[in-house]
Amino acid sequence: MADRRETVLITGASSGIGLELARIFAKNFYDLILVARREAELQSLAQNCRIEYGSQVHVFPMDLLVPDASAKLVGQLKDSDLEVDILVNNAGLMDMGRFAEIEVDRHERLLQLNIVVLTSLTRLLLPAMIQRGRGRIMNVASTSSFQPVPSIALYAASKAFVLSLSESLSEELKGTGVTVTALCPGITKTDMYDRAHAEHDSVQYLPQFFLSSVEDVARDGYEACVAGQAVVVPGIPNQVVAGAVGLYPRWLVRGIGGLLGRSSTR
Ligand SMILES: NC(=O)c1ccc[n+]([C@@H]2O[C@H](COP(=O)([O-])OP(=O)(O)OC[C@H]3O[C@@H](n4cnc5c(N)ncnc54)[C@H](OP(=O)(O)O)[C@@H]3O)[C@@H](O)[C@H]2O)c1
Repeated sequence: MADRRETVLITGASSGIGLELARIFAKNFYDLILVARREAELQSLAQNCRIEYGSQVHVFPMDLLVPDASAKLVGQLKDSDLEVDILVNNAGLMDMGRFAEIEVDRHERLLQLNIVVLTSLTRLLLPAMIQRGRGRIMNVASTSSFQPVPSIALYAASKAFVLSLSESLSEELKGTGVTVTALCPGITKTDMYDRAHAEHDSVQYLPQFFLSSVEDVARDGYEACVAGQAVVVPGIPNQVVAGAVGLYPRWLVRGIGGLLGRSSTR
């Protein structure tokens, strides 16, 4: 344990899972660095955490898709003399639809945010954690990390990357005092879900027992992160599916995914 309150940097803290993670960390006596584009939402969350939990909260409103965003953010942290004890790479994008019909620009933005920014922030903040002999990184992956998902093909591929990188680093960093956790939520009721629901009728047919609340996802993520657990899948139905994927032959997993995916993009 540090002799001061530890500071958690959360990307995508203006809504959904990131916002709820910020609340839980604040409630558990952490200070916060909040990053996203919507400044008003971040300021309101910051004020709430200061008043309710006495946290020190720093707000960095920024678009993580601008060139060199990670380096710029880390430069601003340095200028403000801020150390990051826990990094939560949560900001992410999802596009639903046929791969060939989604604009190239949207594919590139998804890859940039879900993969490149997550990787570069991790790379830039990790050495100081290793030097201090303590630190936590939590990367928000998905249950789609475990299997191909036609209709969100690129999103699922990006989340497979996040899971793979997180697990590799979690082993590579053994003995350094730094742990890496992949948080793999299933479908969770957030703005991302609401957007998919509004744009694609098929989303309404998803069995409701698969739908998680942000509170449950954030609580499971927080607990796994502070415990240094490598992978966490919130919710029993999601754990059953994620576990089952490894038990069946790949052609069967691909086939079932294809059936569901094609029906949802019809
Ligand atoms: N909801 C689900 O079903 C589900 C399931 C599995 C995994 N996840 C993952 O959970 C994470 C959080 O998503 P969510 O469901 O909570 O959705 P959300 O409410 O839409 O949150 C996305 C967050 O990312 C931020 N963001 C998006 N583009 C950004 C940019 N260019 N620069 C900076 N920040 C940006 C948004 O903030 P601004 O708009 O203010 O920039 C927002 O705070 C994502 O990685 C997502 O893939 C979600």
